[in-house]
Amino acid sequence: MNNSPQRYTITAALPYTNGPIHIGHLAGVYVPADIYARFLRMQGNDVAFVCGSDEHGVPITIKAKKEGVTPQEIVDRYDGIIKQSFKDFGVSFDNYSRTSSEVHHKTASEFFKKMYENGKFIEETTKQLYDEEAGQFLADRFVTGTCPKCGNDEAYGDQCESCGTSLNATDLINPKSAITGAVPTLKETRHWFLPLDQYEGFLKEWILEGHKKDWKSNVYGQVKSWIDDGLRARAVTRDLDWGIPVPVEGADGKVLYVWFDAPIGYISSTKEWAEREGKDWEPYWKDENTKLIHFIGKDNIVFHCIIFPVMLKAHGDYILPQNVPANEFLNLEGKKLSTSKNWAVWLHEYLEDFPGQQDVLRYVLTANAPEAKDNDFTWKDFQARNNNELVAIFGNFINRVVVLTNKYYNGIVPEPNEYSDVDKETIAELKAYPAVIASSIEKYRFREAQGELMNLARLGNKYLADEEPWKLIKTDEERVKTIMYVALQIASALATLSEPFLPFTSEKLKGMLKFTDKESNLNEGENSQWDKITTREALLPAGHQIGKAELLFSKIEDSQIQEQLDKLEATKTANAAEKNNVEPQKETATFDDFTKMDLRVGKIIEAQKMPKTKKLMVLKVDTGLDTRTVVSGIAEHFKAEDIIGKKVTVLVNLAPRKLRGVESEGMILMTENAEGKLVFVNPDEDGVESGTTIN
Ligand code: MF3
Ligand code: ZN
Repeated sequence: MNNSPQRYTITAALPYTNGPIHIGHLAGVYVPADIYARFLRMQGNDVAFVCGSDEHGVPITIKAKKEGVTPQEIVDRYDGIIKQSFKDFGVSFDNYSRTSSEVHHKTASEFFKKMYENGKFIEETTKQLYDEEAGQFLADRFVTGTCPKCGNDEAYGDQCESCGTSLNATDLINPKSAITGAVPTLKETRHWFLPLDQYEGFLKEWILEGHKKDWKSNVYGQVKSWIDDGLRARAVTRDLDWGIPVPVEGADGKVLYVWFDAPIGYISSTKEWAEREGKDWEPYWKDENTKLIHFIGKDNIVFHCIIFPVMLKAHGDYILPQNVPANEFLNLEGKKLSTSKNWAVWLHEYLEDFPGQQDVLRYVLTANAPEAKDNDFTWKDFQARNNNELVAIFGNFINRVVVLTNKYYNGIVPEPNEYSDVDKETIAELKAYPAVIASSIEKYRFREAQGELMNLARLGNKYLADEEPWKLIKTDEERVKTIMYVALQIASALATLSEPFLPFTSEKLKGMLKFTDKESNLNEGENSQWDKITTREALLPAGHQIGKAELLFSKIEDSQIQEQLDKLEATKTANAAEKNNVEPQKETATFDDFTKMDLRVGKIIEAQKMPKTKKLMVLKVDTGLDTRTVVSGIAEHFKAEDIIGKKVTVLVNLAPRKLRGVESEGMILMTENAEGKLVFVNPDEDGVESGTTIN
């Protein structure tokens, strides 16, 4: 190692604990952050990669209310699911914390207190939206209305998700309470405001002048437009009972705004990690030489580029982020991902449905990463990228190299002879890859970087296909030794370079090649394993024994994809049913299932209430085939004398069953009108609405 390592603090947005993690979160934040952190560690940097659960905020209290449980129960449930799924997916956080932890409550309270004591807030009594029915102030997600900027009529009291504008609840046009649906009134309340307008000069100099070149244009553009629009003071406290109590006198019943406490969670998480590892946390947040990088989705830009930096600046002890590489959104099969609408591929479900295939999802999400614009995830594309790229290119190349080395040389790397021109060109190309991939990663272009990794696999695949060692082995054994030697060098380079993107594959491949790339193996002038690919004659020297071939990737079948598409289809119908207030559609019936049912027109010729029951009526029905007994649960809805002579629809081949000792030999189809009264199936009958089930 040369000079002292560069220190990095890498943060990934703290996920809200009101639902599990889905592919949108992964593609936008966690996969790129993990690639970056793994890459930096491999280069010998000193990295703290921190995250944790964001456990305050209104969506959690709304969900708790809906389910009739406490907010604590909600956050405990999802914190558990989220933490486990990140671990199983191979996200290499150094620490995953929670904002309900003691260290966080303390850190956030102290942060607020110091700002308060130094006069950084404006204290003001203003009129805020109030729900008389719920007896509660409305802010943030408790209130929806029309966005004053873009006209979206589903904007929230803190932000419009359509245009990204950050709002105060009182900005909304036609506000409505999300708790009761009531139109809010205005009521006075006292709060602490962060005067963002006083920091315009600072933000202009720091971002607009200082980061014009190195921040992504989607991020820079958004920030610029907000600053140009003019910034206003924002309340950083709320009238709520879920959150961190405002740590000053006379603030009973008030808590810190979730967006005030959550980003401080990055600091708390770093403290928790340092404590456990016996390190000092402070340089990670206070040393000017540390690079602080925030990975987030685009809806978080205002909070990470304006509000949190202003907090850090106002507090005075902390460094500012060096970059905020925010991504745009990923859609699923052409529609916006949504936790509340269950329109998602959930990470914990993916891990169950595709065991051991974490890298496939990582690969596809990076290949389609919404780095510069929104992008779409489709299951067909997922299958194609696995089968045509991972299996057919990467997996195929590795498999050929390992199988042939075992077959020709019992797994021992052969001694090469003189290189041909093609060999020399191939080796030169190979040696250029580490720098190419690194440079893309350093620019946060993970998609491009992974594309280059695949190009290296393509290079190996093409080299073997062109040189055809399996043919030459019969005529020129010496030439085959050189070919296999070169191919093995490409394979080992892939093992190292794939690590940030495909960590499970990298590990498996290293195992197969019996390739150890410990930092202790570095020579003078080599800073990392990546350097070795370029500096050394060979990564796997002649005489090195490799292991046996194992499958790196396996084909994904149409049926697996169909299952996933069916799941989404079921969500669609369930959502439509919920919207129209009807029961969701049942499982698909085949045409055979349908023709099995023998439905006939029948006529009721006798009717009698069954003694000692409330609901049952014993009917005699003329089915045209015979006259049979049918026991039906309609006695509360009809008088016997009113139905004699009525024509009805009868399922005649339903297996007979005994009800209170009377054998019923069929079923009369019934439905329900708007008042919940049973009626015979006659869709024209008054009050029978579309979508009412027949049974
Ligand atoms: N929970 C927020 C979201 O999912 C992100 C919080 S990031 C933090 O959008 F900085 F506040 F931690
Ligand atoms: Zn808007």
